Amino acid sequence: MHISKFVTPEIIFGKGALSQVGECCLRLGAKKVFIVSDPGVMEAGWVDKVTSVCRSSHLPYEIFCEITPNPKDYEITKGVKVYLASECDAVIGVGGGSAIDAAKAISILATNGGNIHDYEGVDKIQYPLPPLVMLPTTAGSGAEVSQFSVIVDSVRQVKMTIVSKSLVPDIAITDPYTLVTKNRELTAETGMDVLTHAIEAFVSLAATPLTDVQAKNALTLVAKYLRPSTASHTNEEAKTAMAMASIQAGLAFSNAILGAVHAMSHAVGGYLDMPHGKLNAILLPYVMEFNLLAAPDKFMEMAQLMGINIAGLTSAEAGRLAILHVKQLALDIEIPLCLSEIGLKEEYIPRMSQAALEDVCILTNPRDVTVSDLDRIFRKAL
Ligand SMILES: [Fe+2]
Repeated sequence: MHISKFVTPEIIFGKGALSQVGECCLRLGAKKVFIVSDPGVMEAGWVDKVTSVCRSSHLPYEIFCEITPNPKDYEITKGVKVYLASECDAVIGVGGGSAIDAAKAISILATNGGNIHDYEGVDKIQYPLPPLVMLPTTAGSGAEVSQFSVIVDSVRQVKMTIVSKSLVPDIAITDPYTLVTKNRELTAETGMDVLTHAIEAFVSLAATPLTDVQAKNALTLVAKYLRPSTASHTNEEAKTAMAMASIQAGLAFSNAILGAVHAMSHAVGGYLDMPHGKLNAILLPYVMEFNLLAAPDKFMEMAQLMGINIAGLTSAEAGRLAILHVKQLALDIEIPLCLSEIGLKEEYIPRMSQAALEDVCILTNPRDVTVSDLDRIFRKAL
């Protein structure tokens, strides 16, 4: 018998949901909250909105905004020092995956001590974390519902993946209105990250009926709404749909884990500090081509979910159309087509392939992967 589990935070969803943050923290017993964010989100005004709600709830706070895209180990070390000195007892993450992953990592060290490197891998966290409330502003990472945190080891120049049920936030507050300040490029990249989560979780070796239902709905929503969401920052229907897709893809991958796309993008992102969603978008169709052999029926289902007419086609033929559909979507929203366009050089590939093979996400890829397979996929995507 196959035994599986499905973890999820409490999820509060809807336009205006941000106003619930104070009440949520009080409900979790918070006396003073530590707000983790980044300068871009701060500038967009979302941290001010959160602090204003905290003031209305008579909840003192401390702000830590020194987080960069692809958050680094030394930022976590600094963040936990500020947290401990502030005497806060709960953590709010406001922003994209970087701010939320950093908020989780700071929380690990706040109650477990040591160095963030000690927690790389699966189930290394011993003691409970402070209450965690997450407010995503990107409709992309799914970090607000996931049991993952990804932090860059700045010495080894690799991304460390930390996986633990302790990292599932207590409450995720998704307010689609926060997406209106995202620029076109970020909307496109984070949307392709959502698509990658949905596809990798759906074909993952650890997929279950509970994750499949989330992955399939996310896939359908992205196929329909990523183009209009990228085209207009005020399209409320598209923003709401992408915010829901992000949650559902996040629940799918948090429980079914991911695959070779994320293993490879973690390798390149850690080494060259490049945007996660952009890397995934470029790598996704090439990994799909590689994986088609292992899961043709699931590829056929994906084609159908993306609205492709598959009447009379074999599963392999339908799967190939699904791959073309993903390539066309990336093209339409102006994602670069190859890794060399964003700075990857051929001589880096052996190192990238080795790092990808050592990433925890590779374990659930539906097709067995060797270092030479990864090398070949990187060269095709170059
Ligand atoms: Fe991702």
